[in-house]
Amino acid sequence: MPSSLKDQNNEIRVMMVCLGNICRSPMAEAVLAFQAKDAGLALKVDSSGTGDWHVGQNAHPNSLKVLQERGYAIKHKVKQFKPRYFNERDLIIAMDLSNQNDLEEMAEEQGLKAEIRLLREFDPALSHLPKGHQQLAVPDPYHHPIDEFRNVLNMVEAATAGLVAQLAKR
Ligand code: 4NP
Repeated sequence: MPSSLKDQNNEIRVMMVCLGNICRSPMAEAVLAFQAKDAGLALKVDSSGTGDWHVGQNAHPNSLKVLQERGYAIKHKVKQFKPRYFNERDLIIAMDLSNQNDLEEMAEEQGLKAEIRLLREFDPALSHLPKGHQQLAVPDPYHHPIDEFRNVLNMVEAATAGLVAQLAKR
């Protein structure tokens, strides 16, 4: 993680990225915002998708439902990832290896050296896994039953707790 995190307001700017920005990354955004506030961490979080199919829409109804079940607030409008975000965020976090790969390619095309992390790398229970291990992916729940969204939320909660703990130590 770069050591010079934080913008002029002394906030760490984090962006969560998935494919559609309707299922996984809005959940990761909502949970991280809640946990960071709870920990008194100055952090600004938003999310986007590498694809443009759902731009302007709200999050998936199942994401909204499972977040609400666990008491997380969310106000969401889908946006597509733009190359300028590489410079405008301190930390860009992908949900799966394909999202990570797409972002790395985009950075390379722009001549930028960006470090894209995977969300589950921050889950302390998975710290033994090597870089790029398939289990470090948050699987895409789109077109899956709502229980898969609950499963995603479990993964997100564990990983963002690890992320907040790491950031709080800085
Ligand atoms: P997400 O899920 O990347 O977690 O938001 C998806 C949502 C929509 C599509 C794919 C994945 N789609 O192909 O429209």
